Amino acid sequence: MIDARTKLLGVIGDPIEHSRSPQLHNYLIKHLNLNFCYLAFKAPPAQLARLVDGFRAMDVAGFNVTVPHKETIASLLDGLSQDADTLGAVNTVVVENEKFVGHNTDWIGFLHPLSKIDLQNQRAVVLGAGGAAKGIIYGLIQKGIDQLILVNRTTSKAEALAAHVQERFGFDAMTVVESESEALKFAIQDAQLLVNTTSVGMWPEVEQSPVESSMLHPELMVYDLVYNPLETQLLKEAKQVGARTIDGLGMFIGQGVAAFSKWTKAEVPASLVHSLRDYLIQL
Ligand code: ATR
Repeated sequence: MIDARTKLLGVIGDPIEHSRSPQLHNYLIKHLNLNFCYLAFKAPPAQLARLVDGFRAMDVAGFNVTVPHKETIASLLDGLSQDADTLGAVNTVVVENEKFVGHNTDWIGFLHPLSKIDLQNQRAVVLGAGGAAKGIIYGLIQKGIDQLILVNRTTSKAEALAAHVQERFGFDAMTVVESESEALKFAIQDAQLLVNTTSVGMWPEVEQSPVESSMLHPELMVYDLVYNPLETQLLKEAKQVGARTIDGLGMFIGQGVAAFSKWTKAEVPASLVHSLRDYLIQL
């Protein structure tokens, strides 16, 4: 029940109307019986600073940050966690002693569905070289991945990201291969994990896949960050060859649960994460 002690949480972005974060967090609030409320706020870039000021005046408990503010918000905050600083991206702001501190739970969320999987001595192929790819690569390195192969439609962007990874994350075992090349075919053949961070396959172009189905094999785990649709063409084809699959809802839930725990200090039991997933699927 909302009362005079209810603490405000939220998400800011532009556009924001499509966000599923309010459903995710309010579900957790309700089922853990906590006195918080989570709302979405549209924040056009020109209004961002005023909005953050308003949050300070209102003494909010914390908030999520999404496109297009993940990088620009840093200058409006009082500090950054080490990972948010290294990644140059904030998706969660935690209020600690009236200070607004930027965190990044995207990479933690990405690892959530991989928690029982050992990635040491493994090779991963990452498709895409945008902001999402950077967080995923950071997560894979934290989890001890042995080798990374990066592929992007625009190869120069993949090369720039690989250089950044070497410089900022101190990781050397990364190679770039061209998309639609023989080298990509061999890279996937030798890999145990394939991650799609591009928007290929996202609604409405649901019949597209970022790689040819003939490149997939049963020893591969295929992880698609796209969650609209939940079963992308890539995941369908992966299942057909007997590969294991992880859909994009796993990462979305993981980043949300990690942010929620930072704000509320609440433990979210695995059973609640499962029922949350069922709830989000049927929305
Ligand atoms: P995000 O922050 O979600 O990663 P982004 O920075 O816009 O978003 O990156 C989108 C990624 O999807 C890029 O790697 C992009 O490739 P380019 O660097 O060549 O633009 C990739 N992408 C988007 N549409 C694509 C398409 N139709 N085919 C192949 N790659 C595509």
